[in-house]
Amino acid sequence: MRKRNYWLLYLIILCSLLTACSDNKPTYRIGVSQCGGGRWREKVNSEMLAAQHLYDQSVKVEVINARDDTRRQIHQIDSLVNTGIDLLVVAPNEAAPIAEAVVRTREKGIPVIFFDRKAATDDYTAFIGGNNVEAGQIVAGYALELARQSGKAKPVVLEVTATMSTSPAMERHQGFAAVMEQHKEVEYICVNGNWSFELTYELVKQQMSGNVKPDIVFCHNDGMGMGARKAVEELGLEKEVKILGVDGMPDEGISFILQGKLSGTYVYPTHGEKIVKLALDILTGQPYERDNSLRGTMVTPENAAQVNLNSRELIRQNENLIVIHEKLERAFGLYNTQQKILIASFISILLLIVAVVLTWQAVRQVRKAHRQMKTMHEEQSRFYTNASHQLKTPLTLIAGPMKELADSSTLQDKERALVDIVCRNVSTLESLVSSVLNFRKEMKNMVSDETAGEATMQVASSELIQERRLAMMKHEDTDELSSILIVDDNDDMLLYLKTLLADQFYVLLASNGQDGLKIARELVPDIIVSDVMMPVMDGLQFCRQLKENAITSHIPVILLTARSSDSQQMEGYEHGADAYLTKPFNADVLISRIYNLLKNRQQLLHLFDNQQTAQQSQAASTQDTLFAEQLREAIRKHMSNSSLKMDDLADEVGLGRVQLYRKVKALTGLSPVEVLRQMRLQHARTLLMTTTKTVQEIAYDVGFGTPGYFSKCFKQQYGIYPMDLRSQQN
Ligand code: FRU
Repeated sequence: MRKRNYWLLYLIILCSLLTACSDNKPTYRIGVSQCGGGRWREKVNSEMLAAQHLYDQSVKVEVINARDDTRRQIHQIDSLVNTGIDLLVVAPNEAAPIAEAVVRTREKGIPVIFFDRKAATDDYTAFIGGNNVEAGQIVAGYALELARQSGKAKPVVLEVTATMSTSPAMERHQGFAAVMEQHKEVEYICVNGNWSFELTYELVKQQMSGNVKPDIVFCHNDGMGMGARKAVEELGLEKEVKILGVDGMPDEGISFILQGKLSGTYVYPTHGEKIVKLALDILTGQPYERDNSLRGTMVTPENAAQVNLNSRELIRQNENLIVIHEKLERAFGLYNTQQKILIASFISILLLIVAVVLTWQAVRQVRKAHRQMKTMHEEQSRFYTNASHQLKTPLTLIAGPMKELADSSTLQDKERALVDIVCRNVSTLESLVSSVLNFRKEMKNMVSDETAGEATMQVASSELIQERRLAMMKHEDTDELSSILIVDDNDDMLLYLKTLLADQFYVLLASNGQDGLKIARELVPDIIVSDVMMPVMDGLQFCRQLKENAITSHIPVILLTARSSDSQQMEGYEHGADAYLTKPFNADVLISRIYNLLKNRQQLLHLFDNQQTAQQSQAASTQDTLFAEQLREAIRKHMSNSSLKMDDLADEVGLGRVQLYRKVKALTGLSPVEVLRQMRLQHARTLLMTTTKTVQEIAYDVGFGTPGYFSKCFKQQYGIYPMDLRSQQN
């Protein structure tokens, strides 16, 4: 849910940024209602459109053409207003009917500008356009001049008005008639027409065909002037009749003058840019004039060429302005698109970074969870190890003594039944502990190893009885018990093991590795059984120190522990352990291991044999081989000394006398004195076989005090007297 919110937020930011950089809507919409078409109006329109880009304000000009249809114009004005324009510019087709639409617009609070023409209402915001009364007056002045130039006594001037319901027609007539009526030297005739070419043609033709033929014809625009021209041309009077018009557009009226078709035209001002400026002033609350008359001028054959040039130049510049603006618009469009792409790319990169960061955080969280799980597993594992240690030791201590008790022949039936119950429940408990530990894979391995071990044990149980017997025999022979050192921090375990082993071994006890090491170095036991997890010095450390020391390196070490995984056992062997037994252990298996290891040690007598093989020397540890070599070397050196003391020999190998005795005895089963005697006899045998020395000489050479004792010992060892061996050689 939170993530979805994030993405929604990013989307909103993206949209708003894209909107922010998109084109601004025009601040002001100006609706222009044109009464009709024609060149003059096209010029105004294009000036207004160009003026959109002339001022500081953002403005949009929208022009609609009513095509000389008053009803259509009313409808168009209403539509424009409904689209939400900010201001209406209107050139009413007819003054009276359009007034209603203007009033409606004003009622909606929309400012209205009349341009060129007015409607029959005073409810408008401003007017801008040519002064038509003045236009009529100026044209009248020029008509009078032409009348004078005609040389006629009473020249005739004809005015053909445009539609008299339109304000320009009314005003132009007003101005023209006012001047004419003051000049009685000319005959002034006025006929009412409309803005069309056709009606003017008809009216002029009619007039020309009558009694009073006009010398000068004034039409309300240049288009009408051409109607009049057609009429006079048809009557062949074009040379005599001068025609005047209004508008003065370069491609129309001015050209007609240059072509000789018109004698004059009044340039009716357009100034679209002034209309837009006035509209913006009104919209932005700037001060403005309500009535704005634009000035016009008279074009005659004398100035037509110049005015034409100027007008064309103005039109060209206006067109240029439009082209420049179009190009600018395109450039801005491109710029806007690029800006959008840039912002979209920027946002995409931002989103990508956010996505990367979120992914990275997720990965980190997964890793953290993984680490926590690993730690949990390790802790669980440690807990199981500790629990196993805690559980297995007391279980062993219950199971062992109970088994001893069950084996006792002095138990009564009732007691035996009770002991059996305990024994059964102890085994149930043992298997429960195993089940718990089976939870871990390593435990499974342990269980399979143990099962295998137990199977082997069953097969070997008969051998065990045999071995025990053998060991007991050995003790009887030597009249000496093998010594065993038990190291464990659990007093009950020490007591139990002592009880288990005391009648077969001389038992030594220590409660940690450090104490064990001290005892081992001092008393050199035949074998050591040690726990692993102990305070002060653990079993692994203890084992390593034993194996690295010359005095104790030969002593077999059995590690007895609840640490039962493969890797833990491997660790034990790496520290030099000779055997590894896991708790709960089977007492018979332990004793069997002890005897097995002791038996193996008895086989190392060959280390002191001159003819020992490489394979045999490999059976001993490096420390022991080194020790044996050292001792052999010391014996060889002092062999001829018949009064050689064991103390001297011990000194020579850097041990105490007792330690030398224990070590040599453990490695070979012989005392150092016996080893010395054996080496003397071996050397004597070699000398007998390889030299010509006498038996007597040889006896002294190898350190016997008397040749007789030498011979006796030699016979005992090899079953032959030295003398006889010598004779056999010869
Ligand atoms: C164009 C036109 C011009 C004239 C003006 C007066 O529609 O007829 O020729 O001067 O209108 O409003």
